[in-house]
Amino acid sequence: MIPLAELHCHIEGAAPSDLVRELAHRNGQEINGLIDENGHYIWQDFDTFLGAYDRVASVFTRAEDYEALAHAYASDLAGQGAIYSETFASTDHAERSGVDAMAYLDALTDGVKRAEREHGIVSRIIPTGVRHFGTEAINRAADITIQAAKTNSFITGFGIAGSEVAGSLLDAKPAFARCGAAGLGLTAHAGEWTGPPTIRDALQLNVMRVGHGIRSADDPSLMAEIAERGITLEVCPQSNIVLKAVPSAAEHPAKTLLDAGIKLTANSDDPPHFATNLAKDVETMVSLLGGDETEIRAMLTRNALEAAFVDEQTRAKLIAKLDAAVDSA
Ligand code: ADE
Ligand code: ZN
Repeated sequence: MIPLAELHCHIEGAAPSDLVRELAHRNGQEINGLIDENGHYIWQDFDTFLGAYDRVASVFTRAEDYEALAHAYASDLAGQGAIYSETFASTDHAERSGVDAMAYLDALTDGVKRAEREHGIVSRIIPTGVRHFGTEAINRAADITIQAAKTNSFITGFGIAGSEVAGSLLDAKPAFARCGAAGLGLTAHAGEWTGPPTIRDALQLNVMRVGHGIRSADDPSLMAEIAERGITLEVCPQSNIVLKAVPSAAEHPAKTLLDAGIKLTANSDDPPHFATNLAKDVETMVSLLGGDETEIRAMLTRNALEAAFVDEQTRAKLIAKLDAAVDSA
């Protein structure tokens, strides 16, 4: 079996609804209208999804809640056959529910380390600013990330998520410059909803990866630039289909992007919100891209490992695992 690797999943977005119910009950918080009787999160569109995400995050009121969440998520991924995981982490959401940002990052780190000891899955944590929380919050998230990365080798990058219509990505340029100078990997959500100009803004942040980036398919010269610069797209096909960032699965532009020479990966984004997991997103990408299944699976994992924000020694070990699996496939 070809091992899996993931670069793009938001840890708060990965919280199962039964855990959220349990924590809300423990805290005495009301969560009316958040989860339906079948355990599905309730939202109607991207904005109401972002609102549901905030409410989910608000029940994680203790650092140890995040340790348990990170451990459960990485362990579940390992069970799906993953050898590597990067999760986005929002220090803003942690602080909003009363958890110190450093304690939050330490707790996530403890959780993924425990999963590595138990299941062998390697993980890294990528704090992200939230675009609709404003430039000051993004700067603060970046500074916390730089501070945390000085002593925590699991914090290896910085990203930005949130609403693509709030402000401009270029407002985050100083934050990204500081994180880049500190040696962190850089990624930005862009081109999930808005078109090529937002992705061009992301390129100005000197990112190595773009979160989603699917709308680059609207512009052949932009696709050529992304391919030329070797930028990897963190594609989240089930998220795009379920959130309706694409009109239908058949209209997802993954194959157009691949044919333009762009490096693609498959990712689950916020899995319980989109009734998905990494294994399902990889399957979806395989069907979108066509071709030899084993080769496509190996390509997706190789692209993820090559673009991972991880030290070279660890990357080499992970790629050797992939190579061994490919040889025996
Ligand atoms: N935060 C969590 N999921 C997101 C997504 N799909 N796009 C932007 N921000 C997000
Ligand atoms: Zn995302």
